[in-house]
Amino acid sequence: MNVSYQIDDEVITLELDGEVVSGANEVLLAQDTNLMAKTDWQDKGYTVVPFLKQEDFDKVKAGITKMIAGIIEACGGKVDEAFTLARYHLYVDDTVHLAVAKAIKDGWLVTEFPIDFQIVNDRMSGLLHEQVCTELKGSQYDSFFLRIVRPKKYADNNPPHRDVWLDRLRHAVNIYAPLSGSNKGSALPILPGSHLLMESQIERTAAGARLNGTQYTVPCVTSVLGAIPHMTRPDLTENEMMIFTPYMVHGGGYNLNENETRTSLEVRFWKV
Ligand SMILES: [Fe+2]
Repeated sequence: MNVSYQIDDEVITLELDGEVVSGANEVLLAQDTNLMAKTDWQDKGYTVVPFLKQEDFDKVKAGITKMIAGIIEACGGKVDEAFTLARYHLYVDDTVHLAVAKAIKDGWLVTEFPIDFQIVNDRMSGLLHEQVCTELKGSQYDSFFLRIVRPKKYADNNPPHRDVWLDRLRHAVNIYAPLSGSNKGSALPILPGSHLLMESQIERTAAGARLNGTQYTVPCVTSVLGAIPHMTRPDLTENEMMIFTPYMVHGGGYNLNENETRTSLEVRFWKV
């Protein structure tokens, strides 16, 4: 069976090997902490805003570039003076990329962020009118993550999903903050308003299912209201961030750029 996603004007089709299921007549967000409750974008489920002071952003980008260059070398690749995050794909083959992806999968503690992470916590708390931080009490989550999606490599990202199908990711709000290569052809697609749908209105892959041969940790959306999920990509650029609810369907961030790697910070915040 095939599963298709419409992302703005593109249709992407993947092969599904496995079962699909849908849930109960319940809206998960209605039962959980809604960190958007004091914002005027809670019905849309996302907003795009400026991220950091330019000098802070420059430090973040330079620091992460250095971290990734070190990881490429540790994974058997080579970098040179011309290395940038946007040019990442020119420095790795599939083997090195898979090793890098594995090395960064669990993210980094926020203490390793290139600037004091409290700056980001304060920015988020101000925008949400709610004190938030990256620490989820009772878990080891106090981390930031980097997503690296090479141009035209269709296995570098997750298909559309809702994070909150993993219990530990409930009650949070997420950010997507690009460091390179993010535009209308590569940004993280979202399905605005889908966080308000009932579980019974969204069909997803059952445990053990594979999409194009890959088994993902989070179930993948296969249809919404009985039809092809119709996603859109926000148009944001470096030093902007999208704040979005992990209850909303998002993912499928295939990079259709010709020659630019999309890298983006992904961070989750919980109520302090
Ligand atoms: Fe996600």
